[in-house]
Amino acid sequence: MRNLVLCQSVWMGVAAATSLVAFDRPRAAPQMTALVVDHLRTEYKDNPLGLGTSRPRLSWRIHGESRGIVQADYQLRVARTTADLASGRSLVWDSGRVKSNESIQQPYAGRALQSRQRYYWQVRIWDDKGGDSLWSEPAWWEMGLLAASDWTAKWIEPVLDEDASGPPPSPMLRRTFQVRGPVRSARAYVTSHGQYELHLNGARVGDDVLAPGWTSYNRRLQYQTYDITHLLKAGENVVGAILGSGWYRGQLQNYRNHYGDRLALLAQVEVTYADGSHETVASDEAWRASTGPILSSEIYSGEIYDARLEKAGWDRPGYRDADWPSVRVAQYPTATLVAPDGPPIRRIEEVKPVKILRSPSGQTIVDFGQNMVGWVRLSVEGAAGTRVTLRHAEVLDQKGNLYIDNLRAAAQTVMYTLRGAGPEVFEPHFTFQGFRFVAIDGYPGTLTLDRLTGIVVHSDIAPASEFSTSDPLINQLQHNILWGQKGNFVDVPTDCPQRDERLGWTGDAQAFSRTAAFNMDVAGFFTKWLKDVAADQYDNGSVPHVIPDVLTRPDRPNAGSAGWADAAVIIPWNTYLSYGDRRVLEEQYASMTKWVEYVRRRAGDDYLWTEDFTFGDWLAYATTRSDYPGATTGKDLVATAFFAHSTDLLARTARVLGRTEDAARYEALLEKIRGAFVMEFVTPEGRVGENTQTAYVLALQFDLLPEPFRARAASRLAADIRERKHLTTGFLGTPYLLHVLSTYGYLDEAYMLLERREYPSWLYPVTRGATTIWERWDGIKADGSFQDAGMNSFNHYAYGAVGEWMYRIMAGIEIDPSAPGYKHVVFQPHPGGHFTEVSASHETLYGRVASHWTRSGNRFELTIEVPGNTSASVRLTHARLDSVTEAGQPVRSVAGVTGLRQDGEDAVLEIGSGRYRFACAMAK
Ligand code: BGC
Repeated sequence: MRNLVLCQSVWMGVAAATSLVAFDRPRAAPQMTALVVDHLRTEYKDNPLGLGTSRPRLSWRIHGESRGIVQADYQLRVARTTADLASGRSLVWDSGRVKSNESIQQPYAGRALQSRQRYYWQVRIWDDKGGDSLWSEPAWWEMGLLAASDWTAKWIEPVLDEDASGPPPSPMLRRTFQVRGPVRSARAYVTSHGQYELHLNGARVGDDVLAPGWTSYNRRLQYQTYDITHLLKAGENVVGAILGSGWYRGQLQNYRNHYGDRLALLAQVEVTYADGSHETVASDEAWRASTGPILSSEIYSGEIYDARLEKAGWDRPGYRDADWPSVRVAQYPTATLVAPDGPPIRRIEEVKPVKILRSPSGQTIVDFGQNMVGWVRLSVEGAAGTRVTLRHAEVLDQKGNLYIDNLRAAAQTVMYTLRGAGPEVFEPHFTFQGFRFVAIDGYPGTLTLDRLTGIVVHSDIAPASEFSTSDPLINQLQHNILWGQKGNFVDVPTDCPQRDERLGWTGDAQAFSRTAAFNMDVAGFFTKWLKDVAADQYDNGSVPHVIPDVLTRPDRPNAGSAGWADAAVIIPWNTYLSYGDRRVLEEQYASMTKWVEYVRRRAGDDYLWTEDFTFGDWLAYATTRSDYPGATTGKDLVATAFFAHSTDLLARTARVLGRTEDAARYEALLEKIRGAFVMEFVTPEGRVGENTQTAYVLALQFDLLPEPFRARAASRLAADIRERKHLTTGFLGTPYLLHVLSTYGYLDEAYMLLERREYPSWLYPVTRGATTIWERWDGIKADGSFQDAGMNSFNHYAYGAVGEWMYRIMAGIEIDPSAPGYKHVVFQPHPGGHFTEVSASHETLYGRVASHWTRSGNRFELTIEVPGNTSASVRLTHARLDSVTEAGQPVRSVAGVTGLRQDGEDAVLEIGSGRYRFACAMAK
């Protein structure tokens, strides 16, 4: 390996003496280059179509044989064609050789990008040892429609006799058009009021579902871009769409028609012919609309579909639509249209059912073995008019019957009426269900397991981590956390996916956001949702309880709860930490500031936020147990603590953005709040508030106590836990509980809570067969009975926020806030409990970060991976430096391991990229 590097440096010496042009010549001997640049991403996406950002940020990964790879310079170039890119001529942008060790989030800085244009790009790098890479393989992005004037399509509404007070049938819209010659490329730019499915010449366009997703529709409406080149043909073509009520006008909580009571379509098909000419076919008066087989389809209620009403061939040429009513052109702004920042919602995976049961009440119930979100694909054959009903639920009751009370008013029922000519396969269109069990009624013939398939549907956020341990129950907990995330990341981070709620509850989202960013790539997903937070934020700065905001009514504000509204500050900050994303801080800064300023005004001169409504430490053990005498955490304390926390994060944000005056102002404000907090809620003996776990946790986690109080407060918290042997925290305290314990030296107590199996604990639901995270610690009680059906979801990710501790403390993969996005990682595993092995990896923008440890007696082994162009500190707790080896060699003699020091009981060292195998004797 050394030879290779040497050889490369010699070669570089030669190359460096030649002109820049020489760099562009194809190289005869690529094996001479040890550095490889790949995994090019544009705005968190691989080759995105329909980008809306005017200065897209580019990221790449660097690999090489040697350890300690550091990029010293890079060069980016962008062209309109791959040929231009390859030749280096007619470039749109050439960054030149840029001295920088940044390999993620580098903004395009060439001339203004054009709507519709595809841009190809590539990058090459030089390292700090004289090595270099070849030009990477090209990647591309293609711009969407950047200006409102790019839209020539008209909004069209079906003219149908609809009853908007109930779920009406889904309209279908169609139009024919001619293609007059060979096509070079074609795009469809589409959105709708309600949801849409686009069709072209008999085919479904795109693989996304529930488009255009859910945003604050009146202010921001996403449109999608599809490449339809392959679907066009010479002569007559047909473009069509089916519309569904969706979040736009369907039932959401107690109301319908939140954004309007009419469905509408905006579609623009743009054809570029081989001869370079263009033609646009857009939604306009020439379209026709009718209803078809979808008699109703809504988020909560499910779908009613009568296949006998299908209009065979409606989306193909030759179909006669003379009897279809016309459409009406409507006036809606195009200025609200935005290209999606996040990924589309897709069918992500399939789940095969495991069992067919006969319930005591006589129902046939199919068990999918996993509480999941999406729908069932049904295969069936029978007589025309036979109706099959699928009723979805999460659990069976004590007797083994389908339990639907916790779904409240969400029917979650799909009814399919057969057309009756041979095998039929059906999936619903504009709905999704949260379920593990499906009661099936009316199935003709014999039902076998292969007739049903569970289709898992969520935003296409790529899995980013692996986590496993020597304890199968904890592995199941991780599985449950992950499935809680899958089920509730459906374009909006929701509280739950099954009952008549499914809303973007801000508190749940902020509690889970850091865990979410470990599990999956949620950068684009949160970037998008945060824009809706800003869009729906009240003028006075208050932040609605749910985003998109469908709870505020003219006479009833529904905003401004501590720990919920703080999502406006906490999630941008977490996104910055996880992805090194400064832009999200820049873009959200006004919203973050507005929120903190709102609370500052509400708190007034005493800096205590006391009088407003807040949910408090929601669903804390004490509040849900009438027989439990323990105090609950005071809402004033909770609110003031979050006021301090958001002020702190805002001050840090201002520092990152170079807004030094703001930073100083908010740092000063934070000091005032801290002072007020201590005066009001802390005794000289370090008792905080009502002596509850959450009171200590918030005070310590948010750094609200002066130094002498901290240890005393922490020891009181630990004593409470030792005495009770369980947690008492709710939504707001739980995410930080184990962190505070491990930070203040109570690792044993933290592990005790994590490993506890009895209620209340994370593992209690696991012992009850949970496959997702429950809303309550005791959704199903020890005697098998259920908690209050009015609020008892079995798929609520909030308590899954413990996942963050499992990655950061157990596996020990920690972000360094001064080098966010894993540019510098701190590996600091804290072995404990009964664990003999923990393994975690995480796909960062730089590449894979991994930590795997085993413990046997006092021997501790840690294998880690550090991606190219990043570095890491390693802290081996309770280890003597002189006992530490790497790949069997005393660590002092290993090249590339630096900064060795004994820091109290811990051995600490610094490393560059690469793979390392440390071992040491652990004193404890
Ligand atoms: C939701 C919660 C939410 C809460 C507000 C509930 O109905 O399901 O998760 O945060 O309301 O307290």
